Amino acid sequence: MIHNIAHRGASAYEPENTLRAFERAIEMGATMLELDVHLSRDDHPMVIHDADLSRTTNGTGQIADLSLAQIKRFDAGLGERVPTLDEVIDLARGRVKLYIELKGQDAPEQVVKTLQKADFLDQVIVGSFYPWLPQKIKFLEPVIRTSVLIRLEDRQADFVAWTLAVGADYAHPCWERGSNTPHELLTPAISANFRQNGLGILLWHEERPAELCELVKLDVDGICTDKPDLLSEIIQKEQEKTGI
Ligand code: G3P
Ligand code: CA
Repeated sequence: MIHNIAHRGASAYEPENTLRAFERAIEMGATMLELDVHLSRDDHPMVIHDADLSRTTNGTGQIADLSLAQIKRFDAGLGERVPTLDEVIDLARGRVKLYIELKGQDAPEQVVKTLQKADFLDQVIVGSFYPWLPQKIKFLEPVIRTSVLIRLEDRQADFVAWTLAVGADYAHPCWERGSNTPHELLTPAISANFRQNGLGILLWHEERPAELCELVKLDVDGICTDKPDLLSEIIQKEQEKTGI
């Protein structure tokens, strides 16, 4: 089964990283919600992509400089507030899994504490572009599955070794940027290399129908998308075709 991972929720249709976007994503058939986390000044994991409020809310200032109560005053679009990780867990419980991307470098401890307290450890993947963050997550709580996001420009590096070195469970190639045909980049040899080393494979977000049709044919565990409705439809058609 390929996870339909709603990138920042159903972000093509709703304000990104809001409860509204996550609820809509579930309605559209997402099986996992991707979200970004920064810590507030008073150590609450807040679900927001940028380190500051200005692009996605009507506020200004750094998340790290503001308390939960201060952050909650701002509108994150259509009256939504910046959610806490706890609030997204409540929305997801028993319905979908979460893919938590650590943006704030100081977030691992509080994210682990939140997941432990919520008894949600086996319902998440925690990933980052900074491999030492998933490494820290594994050290703090080995049950949590982790992922390393790999940029296109790092392709020459031995990213399998890199992912294994930090004990991660998934490699997450982010290589459609700079390529019009990302499916051609995940060759059978590269996939086999991931698989032989016991790694899962997740893909960076994609919204073009033709490209998604090619990506769902690959040996991958999940695809991020801003349009979970489109990906649902394409996965279903592929399953009907292959009878799987
Ligand atoms: O699909 C991975 C993606 O979420 C990472 O980039 O910028 O959307 O957080 P970004
Ligand atoms: Ca992200």
